Amino acid sequence: MSQAEVSRKSPIPIYHQIKELLKERIESGFFDTHECLPSERELGEMYGISRMTARRALKELEGEGYVYREQGKGSFVAEPKLRQALLHLTSFTEDMRKRGLDPGAKVLENQVIEGDKELVDKLGVLPEEKFVRLQRVRLADGEPLAIETSFLRRKFCPELEEIDFNNESLYRVLNERYGIDLGRAEQTVEATLSGEFETQILNIEKAVPMLSTERITYLTDGETVIEYARSTYRADRYKLYVELRR
Ligand code: GLP
Repeated sequence: MSQAEVSRKSPIPIYHQIKELLKERIESGFFDTHECLPSERELGEMYGISRMTARRALKELEGEGYVYREQGKGSFVAEPKLRQALLHLTSFTEDMRKRGLDPGAKVLENQVIEGDKELVDKLGVLPEEKFVRLQRVRLADGEPLAIETSFLRRKFCPELEEIDFNNESLYRVLNERYGIDLGRAEQTVEATLSGEFETQILNIEKAVPMLSTERITYLTDGETVIEYARSTYRADRYKLYVELRR
């Protein structure tokens, strides 16, 4: 690491350049997970920058989930974010298992609802159609990672509200108990900030960026809706991956 890596003529602010340099070294494995990063003073000396500039770079890395700070000890490299490929229609359980993590859930709500205007508008169903609203905190190795709210058309899965989803995969139950095969899903992703509810449920100290997805899942005919789901993932622990081909 040297001062030559920082360009003072560039229109890119110095703190940002330092942040990007550190990020690159974290991602390439130059720094190990939980390794202590150079202190503000050391960064200042290495790059010929002020401590304030170094602090800003570290603070932003912390905000993006690359670094965690320990009072009086310094900044350390955080666990790498979980990468979710947006290619296949998979369940949370499958996604976590693929990464060697133990999937889990804490059910907040599992009940029958009807007449929800948002569902009627979004899915074009009749107002009297019954849905099961299943809201869960999703865990990876016991750590709360996301909050998911799924709405299932109850006529395809009667008495779903009786099932204990604390230790059960929804997609597995749909398939094994109700013989439902999922065909495809449409999903949007947007950036949000955790609100009071999420901050509390996910056990985080302050508001953090979140990745919020909305999914409409269809049966194998490609047009019959079975599920509408809203999920919100901690963006400091989770990132999405898309392969683009030309
Ligand atoms: C994903 C989807 C949800 C779906 C869930 C099922 O996380 N975003 O729409 O309900 O998987 O997961 P599981 O089968 O683990 O309960």
